Amino acid sequence: MSFPTNFLWGGASAANQYEGGYNEGGKGLACADLISGGRHTASRQITTTVKEELLYPSHEATDFYHHYKEDIALFAEAGFKAFRLSINWTRIFPKGMDQEPNEAGLQFYDQVFDECKKYGIEPVVTIAHFDVPAYLSEQYNGWASREVIDLYEHYAATIFDRYQDKVNYWITFNEINTATLTIGNFLSLGLQVGESPFIEQPDDPQMRYQALHHQFVASTKAVKLAREKYPHFHMGCMISYMPRYPYTCHPNDVLLAKQEENMHSKFCGDVQVTGKYPYYAKNYFAEHGIDITFAEEDATILAEGTVDYYTFSYYLTLCVSADDEVEKNGHSMIGGSGVNNPYLEQTEWNAMIDPVGLRIALNDIYDRYHLPMMIVENGIGVSEELTSEGMVHDQYRIDYLQKHIIEMEKALEDGVDLFGYTIWSAVDIVSASTGEMKKRYGLIFVDKYDDGTGTLKRYKKDSFYWYKELIESNGANLIVR
Ligand code: BG6
Repeated sequence: MSFPTNFLWGGASAANQYEGGYNEGGKGLACADLISGGRHTASRQITTTVKEELLYPSHEATDFYHHYKEDIALFAEAGFKAFRLSINWTRIFPKGMDQEPNEAGLQFYDQVFDECKKYGIEPVVTIAHFDVPAYLSEQYNGWASREVIDLYEHYAATIFDRYQDKVNYWITFNEINTATLTIGNFLSLGLQVGESPFIEQPDDPQMRYQALHHQFVASTKAVKLAREKYPHFHMGCMISYMPRYPYTCHPNDVLLAKQEENMHSKFCGDVQVTGKYPYYAKNYFAEHGIDITFAEEDATILAEGTVDYYTFSYYLTLCVSADDEVEKNGHSMIGGSGVNNPYLEQTEWNAMIDPVGLRIALNDIYDRYHLPMMIVENGIGVSEELTSEGMVHDQYRIDYLQKHIIEMEKALEDGVDLFGYTIWSAVDIVSASTGEMKKRYGLIFVDKYDDGTGTLKRYKKDSFYWYKELIESNGANLIVR
């Protein structure tokens, strides 16, 4: 087994799921702070203010805000070469539209990056990870308004300037393509687009795609700025990449799988890598009554700010059928779209486990763009408990990760250019889609529960030790414990 020298092995996180301190250090409210927890999306609520009677596990989350030194020391112990995190927009600009940044917020990340540097860990920073300031949601209906582009640009310019000597790898938006999906309002609207809870609004594809267009323009403006002023920066996109398989070899199933994969997994990467909307979007927009307003300068801006590396999350594959009866009887994690794949097992949260799908994804993406790639999320969510000895025997996670890493290695042999892998997640954090603590992804267990109890003490899971040995051997040692 051989991985490139300097391969960026590491772990990932997101501010609104990990940091906590939601109202400390001058931080303003983000949309994510106004979404309550609960396993079923029906029991989650987007509120206009924080309500005492509701639970918001993300408010304290697993408290990276006060544990960053301890956690980064643990990452160093595991041998991490990279740590993916996001900056909380409202820690820097509490309302999202303030002129001056919040110095306490800037200092917090200074300390985090300094701590990473101390151990030689490369930060990979997402500028917006499901993170829209609540004020912008209230004033502008989030990304639905073009005004937010300039505010994002101001935010990006501020953090680029401040962290120019501390951060080299940037990602403009997390899973930007979630805006193309209706995975319940929490991901596609409340978190990604910043839909306003102040306005009654049903799902509106026109609004979602217009908001997405504004994010494309904002992303390219950030990339352009980085190129002009900080040529040492690496600027990447981030896509939730889910390959679509046809349920049968019937041509209609094959066609549908290709169409869905194009619009929901490939479309955003196509725009951000090639600098223009792909041909196939035109038909999709016409069929769905979507008519995107382009400002005069947008086509030029998009063309000038293309990304120089491609990152993606990989959790599952989907299986689609053009036969309504088959679709009706199937179910999958992504509400309403897709059927169970009889050849695959599922996680407790109905995600199809498919390591070979990762090799397929890596080859497909590389074939399309020929850009260096990084897998910035991959992992398994499980409800887990500590043993009385303070351990978590997560052999299932080791199996999951090992199988995926073997497929990464095979893809490298196929010839793809893959330079890093950050596991989701380094530490247990709150789930984005269900808002729960219970759905644990970490290599490190945190004593924190959905009812708000717990000491926040950290415990290394078996997978932590396994990953440490794997990194030490640069992937040569794909050990099963
Ligand atoms: C990705 C997100 O969708 O998947 C993360 O970028 C998220 O923020 C992760 O946590 C796992 O999904 P979930 O909903 O199980 O937390």
